[in-house]
Amino acid sequence: MSRIIVASNRVTDIDKAVQSGGLAVALEDALQTGRGLWFGWDGTTVDDDAAAGIRLQQYNGIRTATVPLSRRDYEEYYLGFSNRALWPTFHYRLDLAVYEHAFLEGYRRVNQRLAQSLAALIEPDDLVWVHDYHLIPLGDELRKQGVKERMGFFLHIPFPSPDFFTAIPDHAWLAETLFSYDVVGFQTATDASNFVRYAVEIAGGEALDGDRVRAFGKTTIARAFPIGIDPDSVYEMAHTPEADAQMARLQRRSMANMFVLGVDRLDYTKGLPGRMRAFKRLLELHPELMKRVTMMQISPPTREEVEAYTDIRQELEGLSGSINGEFGDFDWTPVRYIHRAIPRATLTALFRASQVGLVTPLRDGMNLVAKEYIASQDPADPGVLVLSKFAGAAEDLVEAITVNPYDANEVAEALHTALTMPTEERRERYEALIQRVRTNNVTRWREAFLEALRSAPSGRAS
Ligand code: G6P
Repeated sequence: MSRIIVASNRVTDIDKAVQSGGLAVALEDALQTGRGLWFGWDGTTVDDDAAAGIRLQQYNGIRTATVPLSRRDYEEYYLGFSNRALWPTFHYRLDLAVYEHAFLEGYRRVNQRLAQSLAALIEPDDLVWVHDYHLIPLGDELRKQGVKERMGFFLHIPFPSPDFFTAIPDHAWLAETLFSYDVVGFQTATDASNFVRYAVEIAGGEALDGDRVRAFGKTTIARAFPIGIDPDSVYEMAHTPEADAQMARLQRRSMANMFVLGVDRLDYTKGLPGRMRAFKRLLELHPELMKRVTMMQISPPTREEVEAYTDIRQELEGLSGSINGEFGDFDWTPVRYIHRAIPRATLTALFRASQVGLVTPLRDGMNLVAKEYIASQDPADPGVLVLSKFAGAAEDLVEAITVNPYDANEVAEALHTALTMPTEERRERYEALIQRVRTNNVTRWREAFLEALRSAPSGRAS
């Protein structure tokens, strides 16, 4: 059986990463001893990149090969092109996008350098699986290094419509690099079709059968592979004796007996200010809920060196303060806003203890919090998921209450419906949703992608 080589921007401490979910959980099985290698940045920066070598390690049977970034690479490739240009553009926020020539050069340079390091580790018949927007050109650079093995790419964030993609300087170069992969995977059918639209309408290519698309003289397969979670492990985590104790403590210490929970990195794509305004609207429209419901928003810091993230932090702190000032009482705090990372086991206990999971991004690739919320619920007394129609998860989780996150009134009314929903309807929705979460789970995602890669026409996109 072929080895799997995973490349992603961030390779964190595997033990911690598995506890906190994400890619490590998704790829754990595929990366077990002897069968794989996980390659990428170790999350540190060094002054002089000339001194920085590749570091090989092994945790829990998973082999990793990591490199640090120089301060300049970190600024131009990671903070710059990846997070000031691609992240906002792919999330439809051209107003926040900064396209500096040095960022693009840094992005090219780092991808080239990573490809040189990785090429030396690839053996015949390996399957190479590259992840996310930081590493789009990695495959093309690996091909230039002579790598002939099958290579796939999966984009964890949305792929925007051509109107947005074409705002990127040198977008044709970036799009063309995707055709060096044998398979290009997206979160949703909408993302895959946006890519095909670019190839056909902008690059003058054509869509062929079997999800193949041809442009720039090359053919690749473009298909949606919606990512999932491992629902059984999330359920177990939410139902330990410690989780029971945490739930009891929350209920005992709080005047409110209902909770609306949001858990998101503090990112401007997550719709957090709009979410707080919607909660405020709920209290205005339905004052009978005062002192009965509390909104908990857990938002760990992220990418704080990028200006747009400082702005969102200030806005959110201002909003939670003003809602608490206006509506709160000595025995009730309407909004509890936590700007820290919380252990995963505690989060699942909070998911289970909350009557509503509020997931209202303005744009999101998939959103696994929505799936984890469902998986944490008690089947006899489940909570209700209120989900933005702009999250990739909305394509599948149709029994959630779907909302337009830009419309505070609509979200407020959806919250009211969720908080007052009869048990029977909650159970019916939950049964349908948990079935979907179980079916489209993380193992299925991984196997479907790897199967598409193994059976792709050739090891070399042609
Ligand atoms: C998103 C991206 C990931 C990224 C994560 C955390 O989920 O799709 O690629 O790792 O955010 O962001 P950070 O910049 O801290 O890696």
